[in-house]
Amino acid sequence: MKMSGSLNHAMIDGAQAKAAQAYADHFGEPGYGDVSHCYIDQSYAGYTEENQETWRTLYDRQMEFLADNASGVYLSGARSIKLVRDHIPYLEGPKSINTYLSRLTGWQSKAVPGYLKPKTFFGCLARREFPTTIVIRPKESIDYLPEPDIFHDVFGHVPLHADPTFADFLQTYGKAALTTDDPAHTERLARLFWFTVEFGLIREEGRLKLYGSGLISSPGESKHALTSPKVDRRPFDLETVCATSFEIDDYQPILYVLDSFQQLRDAMETYANRLLDERPAVRA
Ligand SMILES: [Fe+2]
Repeated sequence: MKMSGSLNHAMIDGAQAKAAQAYADHFGEPGYGDVSHCYIDQSYAGYTEENQETWRTLYDRQMEFLADNASGVYLSGARSIKLVRDHIPYLEGPKSINTYLSRLTGWQSKAVPGYLKPKTFFGCLARREFPTTIVIRPKESIDYLPEPDIFHDVFGHVPLHADPTFADFLQTYGKAALTTDDPAHTERLARLFWFTVEFGLIREEGRLKLYGSGLISSPGESKHALTSPKVDRRPFDLETVCATSFEIDDYQPILYVLDSFQQLRDAMETYANRLLDERPAVRA
């Protein structure tokens, strides 16, 4: 991610970040097997007061809507990791989201310098580590940023990592994805990620609720996903999802609805075990 004119740029442009990015680009090749070398420090002092204000504005805009429209699992996770409006979340230290997460599920959010290729990304997930963008969108792009930022990655993704069932699903996903270099499998798994982790809906107490981070972190698309007659909301079925291509430049015309996170975890485990050629269960 490049954001010229922003102090944020310096947070992911130092020597540590350059070394981490170079390692990430080679991950999986001989001598590049330890994904922890792809991580950097959050360098919290790099956030400006304007960055903090951007976080508060985004939080305020979205949390009120989510209180009634997000999955209860998401909302409970947000409380458990003490996600607050006052400041950009800490990834390190006693008051960090990672301190709470480690007690709940063992997941951790790890700062990364930028885009990770799929294999590197999967390698992180397989260790219960979530590659996390630390920069926040510039004030002038507050309504829309095509790349992930810390609002998308932490506000959007991380609360679900506090849930044991979702936590198991996501690690199994990473392990399964690591087992194959077949581009057809990788594409199928990318679709699964897209229609669940990024844009998933779930039915809770008879109502549609949001849980995908691309919906959770987007004021416009979250409302569209729940109410627009243009959206085809289909029951979740893993094989169908893996065969459905997705829209990256516009609001999603098709969304898949889970009955429960157990349904997602169990479907993933079945798929993973098939990929692992009937080896024992890979659930954590
Ligand atoms: Fe995301």
